[in-house]
Amino acid sequence: MSTRKKIKVEDVTKVFTNNKGEQQQALAGVDLTVFDTEFICLLGASGCGKTTLLNLMAGFESISSGTIYIDDKPVGSPQPQYQTIFQNYGLFPWRTVEENIEYGLEVQGVSLAERRKIAANYMEMVGLEKFRHSHPHQLSGGMQQRVAIARALAVEPEVLFMDEPFGALDALTRFRMQEEITRIWQENKQTIVFVTHDIDEAVFLADRIFIMSPYPGRIKTVVPVPIGRPRDRTDYDFIKIRDRIYGEFKLTVKKELDYYI
Ligand SMILES: Nc1ncnc2c1ncn2[C@@H]1O[C@H](COP(=O)(O)OP(=O)(O)OP(=O)(O)O)[C@@H](O)[C@H]1O
Ligand SMILES: [Mg+2]
Repeated sequence: MSTRKKIKVEDVTKVFTNNKGEQQQALAGVDLTVFDTEFICLLGASGCGKTTLLNLMAGFESISSGTIYIDDKPVGSPQPQYQTIFQNYGLFPWRTVEENIEYGLEVQGVSLAERRKIAANYMEMVGLEKFRHSHPHQLSGGMQQRVAIARALAVEPEVLFMDEPFGALDALTRFRMQEEITRIWQENKQTIVFVTHDIDEAVFLADRIFIMSPYPGRIKTVVPVPIGRPRDRTDYDFIKIRDRIYGEFKLTVKKELDYYI
């Protein structure tokens, strides 16, 4: 991992107005730095603002106050060098696997021959060569997720934003995808911001884990994971970090209960 700062989030606040005109503060005073080629996870319970923070970084939502920089430039609208993978995969149902993967390249005006070559490379990387002519509805959830990853990677993005990408997968497919994304990240050296509410997943994947707390969403603690890869879930260091994070969540739950009782 480099010491160059790739993403800087400085004192960011997000206030939504709901359809009754009431204001709801989703994020308050969020500060965080992501280094170039770092893999970070945003971890927290439902509603703590993970998706909101990711969408602000990726340029899909506007900031209420504060600033976010990527490569020292304030974030504007979504850019091809910064790709987002959503929980529902976001595939085009009318396009084949190959055509889905080619989409970003097509937008960039890359020639058909070149697109086919690049798509073939990424189909191989995610093990879907045999399904190049299939449509998304003919694939399992895990396969669709791999198409979404291949499509995002095909434009060689510098940053990948991933919002609970494995949330809908069964446990075994999820483990496989976690190993796969680790391998892809090691090969391609991107910066990854990965949202999850799964403690085990965060410890398996991240260089650092940003634990968020709700009402309003804040960064509560940053936990470094200084364990080499590939990681072993039964390893003593792995379990120690996982237990420490469980402890953080127990504290949060207790504080919230104290507040309500
Ligand atoms: N478009 C919106 N309008 C109003 N409120 C919103 C909007 N989007 C999110 N919120 C509110 O902001 C808070 C944070 O939501 P967000 O979706 O970022 O949480 P999350 O941590 O991603 O949750 P989950 O794990 O369930 O996906 C919630 O209280 C939510 O109700
Ligand atoms: Mg979310």
